[in-house]
Amino acid sequence: MSKITSDLDLASNALRQGEIVAIPTETVYGLAGNAENNDAISKIYHLKNRPLTHPLIMHVAQHWDLLRWVKTIPDYAQRLINHFWPGPLTLVLPAQTHRINSLVTGGQSSVAIRCPQHPLAQELLKQLNFPLVAPSANPFGKMSPTTAKHVHYYFKKNNLLIVEGGRCKIGIESTIVDATNPNGYQILRHGSIDEAAIQALLLHNQLSETSTLRVPGKMASHYQPEKPFYCFDSREEMQIFCQQLTMPAFIFSFTKNEYFNHYPGYQLPTTPERLAFEFYFQLHQADQSSASLILMELPPDTSVWQAIRERALKAAFR
Ligand code: TXA
Ligand code: MG
Repeated sequence: MSKITSDLDLASNALRQGEIVAIPTETVYGLAGNAENNDAISKIYHLKNRPLTHPLIMHVAQHWDLLRWVKTIPDYAQRLINHFWPGPLTLVLPAQTHRINSLVTGGQSSVAIRCPQHPLAQELLKQLNFPLVAPSANPFGKMSPTTAKHVHYYFKKNNLLIVEGGRCKIGIESTIVDATNPNGYQILRHGSIDEAAIQALLLHNQLSETSTLRVPGKMASHYQPEKPFYCFDSREEMQIFCQQLTMPAFIFSFTKNEYFNHYPGYQLPTTPERLAFEFYFQLHQADQSSASLILMELPPDTSVWQAIRERALKAAFR
């Protein structure tokens, strides 16, 4: 049986012994293990049922010297670090491959690094003095967990220690920026730190060519609920779909409408920050409801909504 705990010493001892511990971060909960311990890393892949070709993010404490693991930090990447760390931004940097387990990098010559803001994650890292690899604490392809209970639901039979850290404040995974090119960056995964915020900080233009790095989060389907999930670009399309429905649906819509009277539903918040906070949390609720399928009205196709649209479209049934 898995166990939710507030005992940080228990968690740090387990991590020192090469165990896997689910930890809170400000984005989503992660399945953490010692990044320098081959068995611990293997256990994470096994537990998540994740293919070995999907590399992991290394989590570090604030002010640790990244040159222990990376070859160089481009100037613009250093500015991103100074401004956004600790916080929901992951940087992919040129790795010192001989110092990092190839299970972390997926055999690539780059490593993804993030400095989480959640006080318990920072506290653990400081106590441990070694980096933690931590993919989102869900089975491969499923939705990320934003509460300790979500993690428990996924892994109840696995004897996993889960650190209680409350509900994640951001609610979606970190923004990932490819910073392997000294001449410019590229966003690999959109998140709550959006393109405009990055551009505002950097004079560098975003590179136009497609990155050659493998980012499995870019797969067409990912982050899926158990129930069939359909997304619609307009409420009208969703209404037409509803009229033909013979099964009960859970409806996500920006405005309350007549369908809320017939179906269980959730009125979506109208700012990207609030919607990010609620997105997985409400999808988990919908998944646990008696509805047979889930329908969602998409936010507009503009850059501030990119992170949510990207995730919703990947979660959608096809
Ligand atoms: O917010 C987050 O980033 C959460 C929390 C727990 O920190 N973690 C997370 O990890 O989302 P995960 O494993 O679910 O997603 C990591 C993504 C994957 O899409 C992976 O392919 C990409 O990061 N990635 C990892 N290392 C990479 C590398 N060297 N180059 C390119 N992409 C990389
Ligand atoms: Mg994930």
